[in-house]
Amino acid sequence: MPSFVKVASLEQLSPGSSLQLFLDGKEIALFNIEGTIYAVDDRCSHAEAPLSDGVVEGCEVECPLHGARFDLRSGENLTPPALEPISTYGVKIEGNEIYIDTDFKQ
Ligand code: FES
Repeated sequence: MPSFVKVASLEQLSPGSSLQLFLDGKEIALFNIEGTIYAVDDRCSHAEAPLSDGVVEGCEVECPLHGARFDLRSGENLTPPALEPISTYGVKIEGNEIYIDTDFKQ
């Protein structure tokens, strides 16, 4: 069952920007892609570089360390050297606040 927690406000995450946060021992990256917020693990599945520092193009982020690309919508790994996907998290917006689902077993 989803369990949403407030993590940031929209003022902190303008379109085209990213934000790193720590929640329940996890490092999570938020991305604002043309007004839609995505939440994913902030650790590349290859060698754990922070994806919040990566370059975003469309709905994809490129890892800043070795260049693997991930789909921010699904977490799917799109290019090597990453061989595994990253986790994604449910997001909801209420007013100006961003909430993410802390049910990390999804
Ligand atoms: Fe991300 Fe190597 S750490 S591609």
